[in-house]
Amino acid sequence: MNYRHGYHAGNFADVLKHTALCELLRLLTAKDKKLFVLDTHAGAGGYDLAGDLARRTGEADAGIQRLAAAPRAGMPEAVGRYLAAVAAYDRKFGPDRDGLRRYPGSPRLVRVGLRAGDRFIACELHPDEALALKREFAGDRAVEVRQADGYKVLKALLPPVERRGLVLIDPPFEVTDEYERLLRALRQGLRRFATGCYAVWYPIKDGTAGAFVREMAAFKPLVLELRLDGVAPGKLAACGLAVINPPWRFEEAMREALPWIAARLGPGVSWAVDAAIATPAAPVSAG
Ligand SMILES: C[S@@+](CC[C@H](N)C(=O)[O-])C[C@H]1O[C@@H](n2cnc3c(N)ncnc32)[C@H](O)[C@@H]1O
Repeated sequence: MNYRHGYHAGNFADVLKHTALCELLRLLTAKDKKLFVLDTHAGAGGYDLAGDLARRTGEADAGIQRLAAAPRAGMPEAVGRYLAAVAAYDRKFGPDRDGLRRYPGSPRLVRVGLRAGDRFIACELHPDEALALKREFAGDRAVEVRQADGYKVLKALLPPVERRGLVLIDPPFEVTDEYERLLRALRQGLRRFATGCYAVWYPIKDGTAGAFVREMAAFKPLVLELRLDGVAPGKLAACGLAVINPPWRFEEAMREALPWIAARLGPGVSWAVDAAIATPAAPVSAG
């Protein structure tokens, strides 16, 4: 397990995933019914954008830093709420300054959206990351951190007693059987809890996410994608978030958010929101 999210925190992939995550939380907590949230691959919870790992790649500079510095004119509400959550987290570590120093990971953003009585379990397998995550939420009784395999926890905990749930699956894709494990876990999850909302992040390399997207298509997800032009071979040039059972109005919010985000991230960034997963080689449409 070599993956450290600190190298990538706040990059374009995080911007896509975390904007969507904040909006999913908002829509799923609009009803006066308790929600269960499971983050199967939670990471460390918070990241130092001025630290060694982030500085070594500079990925946040082309992601969240660009978005945070952009003029707010016409900013979609979903993006505004995401940026507000990011800025509030950053401010906890110091006064206002140029650029962000700290970036919240998925569990931090989930935490912002939770109401009293909602239940949240964040899993992280890597010992160091799990320790950092435990420290991040020390004393916070609304968050249960488990150093555990997120796929096993997913299988064990679904269906939740609340009968309403959001599952974020955001693996590092560093092992060859990750796709198979993910798909197996998803099938098991859906068998146990068919009405749950599942958000699955996936990389798109060399223009394609291969057989994985064909398998995912069976679950009829809403697919969000961001693609960058001119990325060196072998680097992450595009990614997607497949959302199964999205709440009402989520698609509408993302159709508003993604073009704004893509335009602020720079020329050569394209986006897609698709009710059906794209065929691997198909060009990405602008909507
Ligand atoms: C992409 S990062 C997560 C980023 C986080 N979801 C966010 O958005 O801030 C993936 C994380 O999964 C962890 N991991 C890898 N395999 C795992 C497993 N089977 N169960 C739980 N965590 C795992 C890695 O150590 C890594 O920290």
